[in-house]
Amino acid sequence: MIEDQISKKKLESPEKLKNLAADFSAYKILQKKSQGETLSNQEIKWFINGLLTGEIADYQMTALLMAIHINGLDAEETSALTDAMLYSGEVLHFPEQHVIDKHSTGGVGDKTSFILAPIAAACGVKIPMISGRGLGHTGGTTDKIESIPGFKTALSIEKFKEILNKNNLVLMGQTKDIAPADKIIYGLRDVTATIDCIPLITASIMSKKLAEGASGIVMDIKTGQGAFLTTLSRARKLAKSLQDTALRFNKNIMTMITDMSEPLGMAVGNSLEIIESIETLRGNGPKDLTKVSVELAGGMIHIAGLAKTHKAGIKMAKEALKNGTALEKFRELIQGQEGDSSYVDDYSKFDVAEEKTPVISTKDGYVTFMDTKNIGLHCVKLGGGRAVKEDIIDPGVGFIFHKKIGHKVKKGESILTIYHRANQKETVLNLIKSFTEKDIKIKPKLPLKKRPLIYETAIKWSYN
Ligand code: URA
Repeated sequence: MIEDQISKKKLESPEKLKNLAADFSAYKILQKKSQGETLSNQEIKWFINGLLTGEIADYQMTALLMAIHINGLDAEETSALTDAMLYSGEVLHFPEQHVIDKHSTGGVGDKTSFILAPIAAACGVKIPMISGRGLGHTGGTTDKIESIPGFKTALSIEKFKEILNKNNLVLMGQTKDIAPADKIIYGLRDVTATIDCIPLITASIMSKKLAEGASGIVMDIKTGQGAFLTTLSRARKLAKSLQDTALRFNKNIMTMITDMSEPLGMAVGNSLEIIESIETLRGNGPKDLTKVSVELAGGMIHIAGLAKTHKAGIKMAKEALKNGTALEKFRELIQGQEGDSSYVDDYSKFDVAEEKTPVISTKDGYVTFMDTKNIGLHCVKLGGGRAVKEDIIDPGVGFIFHKKIGHKVKKGESILTIYHRANQKETVLNLIKSFTEKDIKIKPKLPLKKRPLIYETAIKWSYN
């Protein structure tokens, strides 16, 4: 049984902050950062605390965000910002070493959580997962799992811990109690062109992950046209920044940079992705999805201290897939959160859109390019994601790809099937036009260089 406790440590004691207030002013801090100077830990904490108490206005926060976007933060400042955001809410502590969390920077068809978490849990890792909803072109883990009726993602912290203790695995939606400063700051970044900033991304991700109390974190950093960070050099910078910050907080970390120049697996859309995940847990998944999931799960097992090497962790992960224990864990996850686990054995129960329209190739050749970002946006257009956060998701719509990059295609062959509702014929006609004219390129020759599925993996131990 995990002994845990919730810490509600605020950033600094009110007394100390009162003293600091005499020395600090938002104006001076903004002036410093706008001139490229380094901020002290206390200045950063004072500023974030002021945002939460209302003493710092939104316009002052956005000015600081823009100054950071332009002039950056060093590793020390990034970790001070992470700390301030982390302690803006509840912070869970799990003293055991084998509590590991995983995070992905997001992509199209990215469903690895549903595969790697049951695998790692079946191998003895405890996984407290808090996941987001989809916004923009990438789908959300929470939305996807809710395509199984009854599955509860809105849990109290108490219930979250209870399920984790019982099943080794729990999956909850984001709560206002965890890193509330991130919610405010992310909202401001979203409308002030300050999302794409490595130290701000680092503090945003790490404050939420650290609050979950794991001893180690596995990060899947996507790169490519459908990713948030499209270039490998940006992905590497984020990996380094996440590693530095994790080590400063005494957490083990594995970062893996993986490809997102095409959807992961063959399915895009909520129900379709859950079905594909279950098939992968049965050992029948697409190669790319299986490989990324198993490598990440192997990393979780290794940094949890349950396998001596990453390779040994991967071996255990493969075994859990083969002997059915990972699938059994997935069933337990569904039952533990009040979902209908009969869906695991009967896919016909899923809400999958009744209309299926193929996208037919107009020529012979090889698939050389997929506009992955647009594919994600097309799914949103059908109702599979949110254009604004109030939108209601249709779990049944989406795509099943029959061809991906490098595959040979014949004229008249189906490249993908669009799953849609009967009243969406016009949208589907537009999608077919977009897919055949620009989103999927078919050329007579294969591309000279194939992009790797996994670019690089790094493991950093906090005690080194
Ligand atoms: N994901 C997050 O949680 N925060 C960011 O800033 C970017 C991606």
